[in-house]
Amino acid sequence: MLNRSKFIFHVLTIGLCLSASPGLAQQAPAQVSKAERTHSKTQDPWWKHAVIYEIYPRSFQDSNGDGVGDINGITSRLDYLRDLGINAIWISPMYPSPLVDFGYDISDYTAIDPLYGTLGDFDRMVSEAKKRNIRVIMDYVPNHTSDQHPWFAESRSSRTNPKRDWYIWRDGKGPGQPPNNWQSWFGHSAWKFDPTTNQNYYHHFYTEQPDLNWRNPQVRKAMYDSMRFWLDRDVAGFRIDAVSRLFEDPDLHDDPILPGKNAYGDPNIAHNYTDNLPEVHEVLREMRKVVNEYPGNPVLISEADEPNIAELTKMYGGKDDEVQLPMDFQIADVNKRSAPEFRRLLNEIDKNAAGGQPHYFFSNHDQVRQWDRYGDGVHNDQIAKLMAALLLTTRATPLMYYGEEIGMRTTDPVRKEDVQDPIGKIGWPEEKGRDGERTPMQWDASKNAGFSTAQRPWLPVPPSSAEYNVKAESNDPDSILSFYKRLIALRQSEPALRDGVYLPLNGEDPYVLAYLRKKPNNADAILVVLNMSAELRTVKFNLAAEGVRESSAKPLIAAPEMGRESTQLTHFTIPAFGVFIGSVH
Ligand code: NOJ
Repeated sequence: MLNRSKFIFHVLTIGLCLSASPGLAQQAPAQVSKAERTHSKTQDPWWKHAVIYEIYPRSFQDSNGDGVGDINGITSRLDYLRDLGINAIWISPMYPSPLVDFGYDISDYTAIDPLYGTLGDFDRMVSEAKKRNIRVIMDYVPNHTSDQHPWFAESRSSRTNPKRDWYIWRDGKGPGQPPNNWQSWFGHSAWKFDPTTNQNYYHHFYTEQPDLNWRNPQVRKAMYDSMRFWLDRDVAGFRIDAVSRLFEDPDLHDDPILPGKNAYGDPNIAHNYTDNLPEVHEVLREMRKVVNEYPGNPVLISEADEPNIAELTKMYGGKDDEVQLPMDFQIADVNKRSAPEFRRLLNEIDKNAAGGQPHYFFSNHDQVRQWDRYGDGVHNDQIAKLMAALLLTTRATPLMYYGEEIGMRTTDPVRKEDVQDPIGKIGWPEEKGRDGERTPMQWDASKNAGFSTAQRPWLPVPPSSAEYNVKAESNDPDSILSFYKRLIALRQSEPALRDGVYLPLNGEDPYVLAYLRKKPNNADAILVVLNMSAELRTVKFNLAAEGVRESSAKPLIAAPEMGRESTQLTHFTIPAFGVFIGSVH
């Protein structure tokens, strides 16, 4: 069965007040923090210290009342993002698309779908974002196009068309049979018979998403040129979709069958011959060369659910020549509040052989939201703060998903006829699709939570928006939103949190995850203590081995809130699901 928390496709798969209405926020005065002054003396690329925020454009802000979010809507909310402390936004695809996979089926890589606006709107958004020190990262979908892309129309038209080899065409094993047993990640055979030429084309995802043939040099050139098109428009890099799926075994070996069936009723298989082929790295090196042609350190972020940290490490490349930020699905999908499990993974990625920058996240447009996934059903708001503290206090570049900062929860459709995401229709009721984590952003308690003036937004606004929304939480110092704001501001102002080393503490503790972030000269050190259990815990820290002589820690941020008094490190109590971040220098 397809478990959405694990689903993302194996692929692949400070200002003082927040603006609750578009465009109304006051410009925050530009302040140069202690950390920024230190940073200006270093050579670190921007993405190493950025807080990145994913926007699902259909659901962020609708500016024209059609019920679907758009580019001008995003532009109108840039003040909110600046005040939250965001440095870069990754926007899910806005290219022209028949929207079978809501934009991940692209019919033109160098244009904007009119549903979201125009290229002019896009340029204005990039330039307005830049004024607020926010960079724009495009989603880039190299594995497949839409079946409506003109390239595919040509390719399917005849066996001798010059673009025939731009896609993967094969004869069936016999009449009415596919070429082999490969399965689509979205259910059933990965081959679709096309009567025009009596051959099958390969599609790793929906049938309407034929895979490009990355062994063809013309495909590579066309795709790299499309990257340049956006780099010329001042984008700061790309999040590369489903990157491990770029190549398939040219000899079409059958994949091994595993026990059991998936949510679509197909036998489980291991995608051995369609995932993670070594040729992927050659393409990543070429993509890196393309972004390196441009100034400003454009970033590549890979979406690939690697099976372990050793495989993830390969994404950085041998000589820092592939992806700067491979998304870490290992951390995202721990899916339990386990201090030992997080500790093991944090330690492993921190010491990755490539010396690469870790990149953590917990939620995105394919995953059940973290509020539900890590919550215990009773203390979810406190646990949301616990997970926020973990995301924003390690040395990894953090990636947030819109709405996590206000504690948005997954709100699945209750009736099959309301489902928008096709996998929810194919797999209902076991697989309800991804609508639940894509619902409209909750700005306030007005109609449609301030997202749209339409009668009916494309997805319903969750009932939780009455309580969990930007406006209400901006006025509550104890809200999840206020907590995120304080954390992000602290991460950006404290040199140790910004770029100190990560030193794990109390390695045997089964409940409390603790670490030190520290600058090499000992001038700054921050202690982070996260109680992942439902009971109050008392722990003991001896930081002498880490070169810290202090016997107490001065709280900077804690949840639940605690006084300003320093806490003794030899007898340190932390409440259930509690967060403590304090200075020890
Ligand atoms: C990964 C994207 O995140 C997901 O939303 C999409 O359905 C698949 N790739 C196919 O493009």
